[in-house]
Amino acid sequence: MTQIAAEVRCMRSRPAAFEHTPHGHGDHDHIAAANKAYFDEHADKLEEMHPEWRAMSRKQVDAMRTEWPDLFDKERTTALDFACGIGLVSEPLSQYVKSIVGVDISQVSVDRYNAQAARLGFSPEKMRAVCVELKGEPGELDGAKFDIVICRASYHHFASIDHITRALAALLKPGGSLLVSDIKAEADDRELVPAAHHDTVPHTHGISEERLRATFEGAGLSWVGMKDAAAHLGPEGKEITWFIARGVKPSE
Ligand SMILES: C[S@@+](CC[C@H](N)C(=O)[O-])C[C@H]1O[C@@H](n2cnc3c(N)ncnc32)[C@H](O)[C@@H]1O
Repeated sequence: MTQIAAEVRCMRSRPAAFEHTPHGHGDHDHIAAANKAYFDEHADKLEEMHPEWRAMSRKQVDAMRTEWPDLFDKERTTALDFACGIGLVSEPLSQYVKSIVGVDISQVSVDRYNAQAARLGFSPEKMRAVCVELKGEPGELDGAKFDIVICRASYHHFASIDHITRALAALLKPGGSLLVSDIKAEADDRELVPAAHHDTVPHTHGISEERLRATFEGAGLSWVGMKDAAAHLGPEGKEITWFIARGVKPSE
């Protein structure tokens, strides 16, 4: 796995297709660059800025395990933690899977993730991250395929959830599952993300079940379902509901 082992410094490139969302800016390069800059600058302070994130993350991993227990086998399951950040999903997940590869666009986040994995005593085979922007092309991550791909608190940051979902589906083994946890759009479609974050968040109204299901099915995944997993008061006192959702790559 040379690409993974080499831990190349983060490179970005233009995806094949962009998407226009009802509330999105539709500019992949601009949004990806803004995310990289923001998380590079804030990775070392995120836990101080958002002390609730660690517990929220564990809660959402637990909700996935409760809902789909067969997906988590400590002896066998290989996991990709996409948009892994500093490792708030990988840490709780590590007890329930054989190995985890984290991927993120922010090099500072990836460096912090790997430092924490080493502090926890994990070998790189058990848990390590790489900074790379996936393009959905054959051979990415040195051709590795995973039993589960998990992506938490990040879909609302992607300019094109369709493009990202196709890239993630390509990294699943046949029969593998894509697990997403993110902000649920409310019935009145009100804005949920404060204006201060609109440069890094194109999906400011959250993501609806209808939208995510169409995205998963457009990427060739069978829709399993979406459930509420947690709720909390976000910035500006706005109540935010977090969903967990699963899609399955058909067996060959
Ligand atoms: C709110 S953080 C969530 C991090 C982690 N999943 C968690 O639950 O703590 C969003 C993450 O998405 C990453 N990100 C944003 N756009 C990305 C892209 N196009 N490719 C990979 N990572 C991206 C950011 O760098 C950041 O680490």
